[in-house]
Amino acid sequence: MKRSLTGIQPSGVPHIGNWLGAIAPALDMQETHESFYFIASYHALTTARDPKLLQARIFDVACTWLAMGLNPERTVLWSQHAVPEVCELTWILSCVSSKGMLDKAHAFKDAVAKGKKQISAGLYTYPVLMAADILAFHSQVVPVGKDQKQHVEMAKDMAQRFNHLFSDVLTLPEPLIHDDVATIRGTDGQKMSKSYDNTIPLFLPKKKLRKKIMTIKTDSKGLEEPKDPDTCLVFELFSLFATEDQKAELAEKYRGGNFGYGHAKQELFLLLDKRLEEPRDRYNDLVQRPDDVRDILITGAQKARAIAQKTLLDVRSAVGL
Ligand code: ADP
Ligand code: TRP
Repeated sequence: MKRSLTGIQPSGVPHIGNWLGAIAPALDMQETHESFYFIASYHALTTARDPKLLQARIFDVACTWLAMGLNPERTVLWSQHAVPEVCELTWILSCVSSKGMLDKAHAFKDAVAKGKKQISAGLYTYPVLMAADILAFHSQVVPVGKDQKQHVEMAKDMAQRFNHLFSDVLTLPEPLIHDDVATIRGTDGQKMSKSYDNTIPLFLPKKKLRKKIMTIKTDSKGLEEPKDPDTCLVFELFSLFATEDQKAELAEKYRGGNFGYGHAKQELFLLLDKRLEEPRDRYNDLVQRPDDVRDILITGAQKARAIAQKTLLDVRSAVGL
């Protein structure tokens, strides 16, 4: 069985982009892969400055994984900081990584492009920590959204370089990206992201979910005018959850006229609300049982740590420490 691994940062409230791009594809692999999924708490420290909020968000991402269907009997779930070996591996990998490569990393380039004044060394070396996450567990497949593809490729480069310089210790990973959900767009039409304030969070109460869906950007065509489903963001999001018949039905309503964007949004709300009802109930139940969630994380961390410790022994020995 191949090993699959992915992480979600506790940097905000998980949204449907995280779900479709990373969580759902990862959970689909639970039966066919040895699955290792974690909460990327160290990565979140590149931006988090409120300790209480960080703790709450770590718990929230754990509940999200479980509510969306992670089975802790089959899949290892832990918080990144419970396995500090990844920090040691980060240092060792950083010594075989070139500055030129890190200059090209998305996380860093985005921050520069946005004109961020204070870019921490942590943000700059972010891909090395991510590579350590992947390589410490000998992960073969890494299910992620398209924005993370480059980081997984960098992890592969670092493993190759390490193996070439020392000995064949590290396993080469491959990203797994589903084209249909590679980049989910947010309510403003840009990539949905916690950092753009354009997300549809997974576990909003019904009323708030409806309100959020009503904010999706559309053009200004009047109610009676026929509309083009293929250029409409509401239709695009609807299509992610709909059957072929449901899509064809809605497309016909668009083209027929006398069907406003408000109506289309209501249909999207009904569909998404139905799809999220069960996970939302599970989530609401889990948040009432923090001790059970913590127990799952502790058990997961023990299993994960044992693997990372073994890898570090091999890595140390390969470099001569
Ligand atoms: P965010 O951009 O909201 O901060 P993260 O960086 O924590 O999200 O991403 C967690 C996972 O979810 C990654 O695998 C990422 O590729 C995926 N992901 C995030 N946003 C999207 C999106 N809009 N579409 C598809 N996948 C996404
Ligand atoms: N950087 C990823 C993101 O922002 C989260 C992450 C951290 C990750 N370590 C990872 C994803 C290892 C896959 C594998 O989405």
